[in-house]
Amino acid sequence: MRIPPSLVLLALVGLVFGHDLSRLLLQRRLRKEDPQPLVSRQVPAPPSNTFNQITNHFPNDPFYGPPPANATFLQNYIVNDTFYKAGGPIFLLDSGETSARSRNRFLLTGIVAELAQATGGMGIILEHRYYGTSFPEPGLIPSEGLSTDNLRWLTTDQSIADIAYFAQHVTIPGHEDEELTAPGRPWILYGGSLAGAEVAFVLREYGDVIYGGISSSGTVQAFKGYPQWYYTIQENAPRDCVRSIEDIVDKMDFLINTKNAVAQTELKTILGLETLRDIRDVALTIAFPIGNPFFYPTSTWQELNWGWGRRRRRSSWSLTRSLRESTRPRCRTGGSHR
Ligand SMILES: *[C@@H]1O[C@H](CO)[C@@H](O)[C@H](O)[C@H]1NC(C)=O
Ligand SMILES: *[C@@H]1O[C@H](CO)[C@@H](O)[C@H](O)[C@H]1NC(C)=O
Repeated sequence: MRIPPSLVLLALVGLVFGHDLSRLLLQRRLRKEDPQPLVSRQVPAPPSNTFNQITNHFPNDPFYGPPPANATFLQNYIVNDTFYKAGGPIFLLDSGETSARSRNRFLLTGIVAELAQATGGMGIILEHRYYGTSFPEPGLIPSEGLSTDNLRWLTTDQSIADIAYFAQHVTIPGHEDEELTAPGRPWILYGGSLAGAEVAFVLREYGDVIYGGISSSGTVQAFKGYPQWYYTIQENAPRDCVRSIEDIVDKMDFLINTKNAVAQTELKTILGLETLRDIRDVALTIAFPIGNPFFYPTSTWQELNWGWGRRRRRSSWSLTRSLRESTRPRCRTGGSHR
C-alpha cells in the first residue's frame, strides 16, 4: 500500500494524538541533540550588492496587467572574486527559491568555487525576484500581502529575463573599469532544481547572450502533488518506523473521513494549532521531521543522503527513535542507525 501524500503528512498528528508522550519526547530529544544555536552553522555572508532590475520585462504583454511605467526594483547579488583573474569568465548562480544569502555556501565551496578557481573566474549569486530582499514592488514584503496581484511578476519568463538583463548591464563593485558584461565576457550559469530549469530556459531563450550553463537536477515536469517523494522513505526507512506511521495514518484517515469536527478541534488544540482552519495546514506544520517535496528547511529524510552535516541527519533518526519508543511494544527497539 502506498501512503497518499496528504496522509503521510497527517502521520505525525497521529503520533502526537495517539501517543501523548511522544511530542514531549521528540522535543526533548531534538533539544538534547541540537544544543547549538541555529546561527552557528551559517557562514557570514559577504556584503550584498543591488542592481536596478526591470520589474516588467514584457510591458506589452497583457498578462502582466497595467505595467508600472519603467519601474525597477533593487535585485540583490553577492560577488566572490577571490579567484578572479582579469579576463576570466563569470559564473552566475541563480538563487532559485531562496535568498542569495542562504546560497552563499555555494560561492565558498562546491562547483561554482571550483570552476572559478580552475578558470580564474568570478562567482556571483543573483537573488531570484520575490526572494530575500529582491521585491518588485517597493514596500511589498511577505507580511504585507503576497496577494495574487502582487505576485503577477513572479513568472519564469520574468525571472530568466532578469538573468539575461543582469548579465548584460551589471557593473561589479571594485571592477568598474572592466567590461564584464555578456556576451563580450563568457557568462556561465549554474542552478539546481527550479534554478536548474531556469538555467536551461535562459540558454534556450537568451543563448546569444549567455555563453553556457549547467542545469543541475533541472525540473522537467510540473504537476500537482508529488506522492513519489514519499515512496523512497516508505521503502527505505526502518520497517518498524514506517509501519508505525502507516498505522497512525490509518487512524488519522478515520478521523478525517468521519468528519469528526470535534475530534479535529481537540487535536489542533493539543498541538497548539487551533488557529489553523484547514486540517492540511495542521498536517504540513507537524510533518516537519519527515519533510515534504515543497518545504524542507531543516532535517528531513531527504537530507539523510546529501545533508550538510551530522546535525541534520541526526534529527531524522530522532524521529525514528521517538516513534519506536512511543509505540512500544509493537516496534523493534534494537538497532542503531547513525
Ligand atoms: C520609459 O523609458 C523609455 C525608454 O527609456 C522612455 O522613452 C519613456 O519616456 C519612459 N517612460 C516613462 C513614463 O518614464
Ligand atoms: C570567497 O571564496 C573564498 C573561497 O571559498 C573564501 O575563502 C572567501 O572567504 C570568500 N569571500 C567572501 C567575501 O565570502
